[in-house]
Order: sequence, then structure tokens, then C-alpha cells
Amino acid sequence: MRVVVIGASGTIGAAVVEALGARHEVVRASRGSDVPVDIGDPASLDRMFDVVGEVDAVVCAAAHARLAALGEMTAEHLGEALRGKLIGQAVLVARSTAHLRDGGSVTLTAGDFGRPTPGSAVGVLVNEGLRGFVRAAAADLPRGLRVNVVSPGWVRETQVALGMTDTSGVPARVVARSYVECVEGGFTGRNLFPA
Ligand SMILES: NC(=O)c1ccc[n+]([C@@H]2O[C@H](COP(=O)([O-])OP(=O)(O)OC[C@H]3O[C@@H](n4cnc5c(N)ncnc54)[C@H](OP(=O)(O)O)[C@@H]3O)[C@@H](O)[C@H]2O)c1
Repeated sequence: MRVVVIGASGTIGAAVVEALGARHEVVRASRGSDVPVDIGDPASLDRMFDVVGEVDAVVCAAAHARLAALGEMTAEHLGEALRGKLIGQAVLVARSTAHLRDGGSVTLTAGDFGRPTPGSAVGVLVNEGLRGFVRAAAADLPRGLRVNVVSPGWVRETQVALGMTDTSGVPARVVARSYVECVEGGFTGRNLFPA
């Protein structure tokens, strides 16, 4: 398969590239890569596909919704989180359909806070929105196209990079397996919690 990974230089994206790279042709994309793309900018998605051409799978492991205490939440913050991670990935699914071969797939990234966590409300809104979007969008896709979402909890490498005392998160290479399942499996409309 020919697979484009958006966010390929990131903690999760790099592990996905490594896991897929053994069996598939992988194109690495992100804002700062040789194949530039900003998922918050729909025109840049079209430019990316102009460069990349037809693919069998699109994986997005980019962007994030920043934690913010409810008292500090502003319309701007909410808009930023929705535009980047939720709307950006929803538009990516819509734009990808024209560039995916029959039976091809899009795999998005949400997240999982596990239990209610202070500052997580916007992130949960985005993550639940993505899971709902994927369930519904799967029924709308033509030509056997598929869409799924992966919802990682804390990734161990990220906890280490942040200097957290708790480093019990799931290693990136284990998280990457869920993306590989979505790309290589035949299912659609599903959410995977890596563990
Ligand atoms: N790490 C965790 O513990 C964890 C847990 C749950 C969920 N997640 C989610 O998983 C996703 C990836 O997380 P990560 O920790 O791997 O992130 P990361 O290490 O910060 O890497 C982010 C990647 O996405 C690219 N990127 C960022 N903004 C982008 C944009 N607007 N358009 C295109 N590419 C963009 C970055 O490259 P450029 O700077 O070159 O664009 C980089 O390749 C995020 O949605 C995050 O919320 C992560």
C-alpha cells in the first residue's frame, strides 16, 4: 500500500511510520516536512494530495487540543481546539475521498483521558466529537472507503519527555499497532483504545 502519514515526525507518527514502513510505501507529511501540510488549512490538504497523488491510506497523528481550566477557557481557545484537531481531521476525511483508491482508509487520532481530569473538558469534547464523527461518517463513504479513529491514553515517551513522575503510559510502538490494524484491517467506523 501507499500510505501518507500526517504528523510523521511526532512521537506517535514516527512510531506509525516505523511500523508501517516494513510492509508499505510511506509518505511523511507535517507542517515542517518535505511534504508540507497543515490540517488546520484545507487548501494545504489539497496541495499535499497534489504532491502525493493517489494513496491507499491516510493516517493523521497530528495536532492537539491543549488542556485548559474551565475558568480560563475562552471562545478563542475553544475555536482553536475545534479548528485544529476536530474540524481539521473531519475536513481531512472529506478531502481524502477524492484521492483514496477503492477500499482505502483514513485513520484519525482522538485521545482518552481515562477518567474526568481537571482541564480536560475541551479535549474530551474534541475526542468524543471525533469518535461520533467517525461512527457516522463511515456510513457515508463511497467505494468501500473506510474511516476509523485511535484514542491513545498517555504515551510513555511523552510522559518521559514532560518529566512526569508517572511513566506508566503505553509505549509509542504499542500505540502504533492500533494504526496498523486500522490501515490493514477491513473494518470501518471503529474507535480503537491502544493498550
Ligand atoms: N502523546 C500522547 O501522550 C498523546 C495521548 C493521547 C492523544 N495524543 C494525540 O496524538 C496526536 C499526536 O500526538 P504526539 O504526542 O505524537 O504529538 P507530537 O509529538 O507533538 O507530534 C505532532 C506531529 O504532528 C505534526 N503537526 C502538528 N500540528 C500539525 C498541523 N496543524 N498540521 C500538520 N501536522 C501537524 C508535527 O510536525 P510539524 O511541527 O512539522 O507540523 C508532528 O509531526 C495528537 O492529536 C495528540 O493530541 C497524544
